[in-house]
Amino acid sequence: MFKFSSICLIAFIIGLNCCFTYAAISSQNLVPLTRLHRIYDNYNFIATESDASYAVANNGFIRQNVIGSVVLNAGDSVNELKSIYRSYLPGPTGKDDHLFTYSDSEVNLAVNTVGYRYEGVRFYCGLKANDFNATIPLYRFWTGVRHLYTTNYTEGNAILVTSGVGAYENVLCYIWQ
Ligand SMILES: *[C@@H]1O[C@H](CO)[C@@H](O)[C@H](O)[C@H]1NC(C)=O
Ligand SMILES: *[C@@H]1O[C@H](CO)[C@@H](O)[C@H](O)[C@H]1NC(C)=O
Repeated sequence: MFKFSSICLIAFIIGLNCCFTYAAISSQNLVPLTRLHRIYDNYNFIATESDASYAVANNGFIRQNVIGSVVLNAGDSVNELKSIYRSYLPGPTGKDDHLFTYSDSEVNLAVNTVGYRYEGVRFYCGLKANDFNATIPLYRFWTGVRHLYTTNYTEGNAILVTSGVGAYENVLCYIWQ
């Protein structure tokens, strides 16, 4: 939370008060994370506003609800927040998938061995509970066909019970109210 560099150390020694930056996340940096749904192949998706608008206009999704908020422009806090990368796997109806992850190695593996297309950082969030006051766990599940991102653990677990072949893949990150 406090940033300190050697330039700052010199400035501190000579008496300039520039050394400490408290990297709080102000509400102005938070944007809604929307849950979308595509009826014909039962695809649940998450997106910030411009991606949500695009998915509605071009890919047949409808908006469900706002599940929390995330940081779109991390600015000074980029090193402390988790960058969430998105990759897309084209596929036949019902089998395409979006992979959201903070792991470089998982992106590389997905792109190089499975055929996902890297689509860049989509948002930032906290890696641990209460990082920058982010309290809502965003869970990642594998449904047996594609990934599900939800703040409702019960929803993901119900899909696992039904599919029998899915997996709980842990908390992607923590988001804000
Ligand atoms: C966390 O919330 C408290 C109380 O609202 C606030 O004072 C503090 O600056 C917040 N911390 C961060 C890192 O946003
Ligand atoms: C969570 O998911 C379960 C199972 O789909 C559902 O019954 C419940 O209403 C959901 N809870 C919320 C808060 O959306």
